[in-house]
Amino acid sequence: MCGIIGYTGSENAEEILINGLHSLEYRGYDSAGVSVSTPDGIKTVKCEGRVSLLEEKLSLFGNLLGNCGIGHTRWATHGEPSERNAHPHNSESLTLVHNGIIENNGELKASLIELGYIFKSDTDTECLAHLLDSFYRKDNDPVSAIIKTVSCLKGSFAFGVIFKDHPDNIYALRKDNPLIVAEGEKGYFLASDVPALSAYAKKVCRVGENEIVCLSSDSCRFYDLQGKEFGGIFEDYDSNGFSASKDGYDYFMLKEMYEQPEAIRRAVGHRLNINGLPDFRVDNIPDSFFENIDSVSIVGCGSASHAGLVGKSIMEKIAKVPVSVNIASEYRYEPPVSYGNTLTVCISQSGETADTLAALRCSKANGSVTLGIVNVVGSTIASECDYVIYTNAGPEIAVATTKGYMTQVAVLAVIAAKISLNKNTVSETYVKEFCHELLYKIPNAVNSVLSRMDEMDLISERIKDCEYLFFIGRGSDNCAAPECSLKLKEISYIHSEAYAAGELKHGTLSLISDGVPVFALAADMKLFEKTASNIREVKSRGGYVVLACNEKIENTEAYADAVFMLPDVDPLLSPMVTVTFAQCVAYKTTLLRGYDVDHPRNLAKSVTVE
Ligand code: AGP
Repeated sequence: MCGIIGYTGSENAEEILINGLHSLEYRGYDSAGVSVSTPDGIKTVKCEGRVSLLEEKLSLFGNLLGNCGIGHTRWATHGEPSERNAHPHNSESLTLVHNGIIENNGELKASLIELGYIFKSDTDTECLAHLLDSFYRKDNDPVSAIIKTVSCLKGSFAFGVIFKDHPDNIYALRKDNPLIVAEGEKGYFLASDVPALSAYAKKVCRVGENEIVCLSSDSCRFYDLQGKEFGGIFEDYDSNGFSASKDGYDYFMLKEMYEQPEAIRRAVGHRLNINGLPDFRVDNIPDSFFENIDSVSIVGCGSASHAGLVGKSIMEKIAKVPVSVNIASEYRYEPPVSYGNTLTVCISQSGETADTLAALRCSKANGSVTLGIVNVVGSTIASECDYVIYTNAGPEIAVATTKGYMTQVAVLAVIAAKISLNKNTVSETYVKEFCHELLYKIPNAVNSVLSRMDEMDLISERIKDCEYLFFIGRGSDNCAAPECSLKLKEISYIHSEAYAAGELKHGTLSLISDGVPVFALAADMKLFEKTASNIREVKSRGGYVVLACNEKIENTEAYADAVFMLPDVDPLLSPMVTVTFAQCVAYKTTLLRGYDVDHPRNLAKSVTVE
């Protein structure tokens, strides 16, 4: 997925574009570029690599003087990361930036070449630029040309374009990919996401599906695909203290890790009534919504699906409803069998993940009631679910999610408590105690682990050069293992696998040899003896065992090469604490390996392509 920024107004565009691109780099960062309308026509400067390299190039190139421009930071889909494939892409009459995938770019390219267009890149976006140019040169009307172009496209796209004949205007359209327009004191802004605008926006409007906007220095006009103009709805923008800065932390990921305790308290506290019982009326969800739920189908990708694993474990144990956790990209091929009244829960931090959006639409088409657990307010998934519970984690910039995941688990736990209360599967007293632990004990336990991050130094030093390692556990610890594993591998690039501790001996144990690290997770004391057997199996084959276990377990040194004592909490909620431990190990190890914690290679914060 990529980041788009645009500005037109009374100020010089270049600086605003660059600042915006820095805020959008979490969306993709393999190349970047800007186009500005200057007195000498539209000038485009782009380069491979991070936005900082683009800044350097612009300063060498001589700053672009102009008050209208567009910018882009890329996560490559078609065409390797390079300057020639970087956006903006130009055609005879225009310059354009794009986020998404033009699925029928092959056939379009062939017909455009027949029309005489010469392609300079390997991107699908250049097809879009030339196709738009071909219609514009017939109509000389930007809105009409956009409408005709879109009618030829298949796929998902959000794009911003400046026509040479209209050098002070920015036109844009979105389909399946987010676009926001903002009104500021100095003009109008366009961006893929709010962080890019937070320094300038006074009012914001999320562009709707298939809507066209035309920005000028003092207006923003909206058109539908019939060319009919309509009034866009702007809302006052409250940055609610959002700071796009690291606030003194070395990385956004570290900042967001430390925000977890408060984020958990916010996500949970909003949903408990004065008696400490679950209550979702703050989300406009009546109690009746949680009655008569026969089964739950959870859908998500990556860490969101891992949160679902923990939610499944809690729901099935206390609410006694069957829960399936479905990888969103597989959902349409392997939809879960519905049991009576099935609630589909779509989990997504960004609310823009294409796979999860596709699964949501599939489940709605099958008649399921849908509930979103989403962090970004007004995002596509949030707006298309029948109901939505916002995790209120605040903007998450680091590609590796931390508070996003943690608050998803917290909300799932409250939902489980609500369903169990409605089904009388547990006592009201139990629910009160469960929710009290979630609101108070868990944030404090997470904070306690974070405060002991220096204890990870020895562990990180020991694993930093290994080729691969494992996370194993049983029960709730097995539910935590996939997220522990993903955190480490996605930012340190050490291959890692999560395994049910009892499963290792059924094949994968063959990979254990001298010094191979195995993280044994044992927050749940009841299962420790069994896990200890698996630890011995690893040790006897030379494995290096790191034991992350409940602080009440004794003589742990006898079992492992390194031990980290986890605060004792309800086993059902223990993954929130265990994953915090893994976040710290991943962070420390990545620093030792010299990689960029916030911008891991090949990844993007929200994957808006399927
Ligand atoms: C998490 O660290 C990863 N960056 C990734 O797995 C992420 O959780 C996944 O892409 C889902 O994103 P979403 O929650 O925004 O839908």
